[in-house]
Amino acid sequence: MTNNIYFIANWKMYGGTSSLTSLNRLINLSKLKKYNNAKIIYFPPFTLIRDFVKKFSKTKISIGGQNCHHIKDYGPFTGSISPKMLKELGSRYVMLGHSENRISGESDYDINKKIRSALNKNLKIIFCIGETLKERRKKITHSVLKKQINRGLKGVKNCRDIVIAYEPVWSIGTGIIPQDKELQMNVKKIRKIILNRTKFKLPILYGGSVNNKNISTLKNISGINGFLIGSASQNTKKFIDIIKKTIN
Ligand code: PGA
Repeated sequence: MTNNIYFIANWKMYGGTSSLTSLNRLINLSKLKKYNNAKIIYFPPFTLIRDFVKKFSKTKISIGGQNCHHIKDYGPFTGSISPKMLKELGSRYVMLGHSENRISGESDYDINKKIRSALNKNLKIIFCIGETLKERRKKITHSVLKKQINRGLKGVKNCRDIVIAYEPVWSIGTGIIPQDKELQMNVKKIRKIILNRTKFKLPILYGGSVNNKNISTLKNISGINGFLIGSASQNTKKFIDIIKKTIN
C-alpha cells in the first residue's frame, strides 16, 4: 500500500476515562517516521470525545463522532448531537451509515441528509456501506452497494472529504471475513461506482472482524486504503499490532 493508510478505531459503546492511559504506546508509535503515512482516527463514544481530543492534542491522530443528527446546528432533538457540536468538541470526522445504525432504522435518505449537514460543518465523513448476509445469499451485493452509495451521496458535490468504509454486515463482530477474491471484486465494484460520480480518488477501507491475525492476509488485497476496526481497536496492544503488521 502506498499513500495514506487509514486505521480507524471504532470504540462503539465501550470505554471510560480509565481507558485513556492505554493509548500512550500508540501515541509513541504514531510519532515514528516509519508510520508517517498511517492515518489514525479514533471514534470514541461521545462522552469521551473531549478527553480523546486532549490526549491526542500534540499528535497527528484525529477524532471523530460515531454518528450525528441531520440538523447541523441546534434543535429540539432529545438525546441527539449535531455536526456543529461535534466540531466544537474538536472532532474532525463523523462516521455515518454504520450498519448498527442502519439496522435500527436509519435509511439511505437519513444518511444522505446527515452527510450533507456534516460536510456543511466541515467534518470529514467515514461513509459505511455493506450488504447483509441475506443480500449476499441473493447475490445482489453489487446492486445493494450501488444503491447505498448513490442514495447516500445524492446531491453531494464535494466528495473530497469522504472516505468509504466497506463493511459486509455479516462480517461485523462475527470473526468471519470475506474470501480474498470476493473482497477484491466488491472493492473494485465500489471503485467503479465512485468513479462514475466523482473525479476524486476516494479512499476505500475494509471493516468487519479485522484483527491482528487476519491483517496479514487483508493487507494484501489490492485497492484497499486502510481498515475500520471495531473490537480489536478497543485493545490498544492489538490495534498497534495491526498497524505494525500492515506497515512493515
Ligand atoms: P468489528 O467491528 O471489527 O468488531 O467487526 C467493525 C465495525 O465497527 O464496523
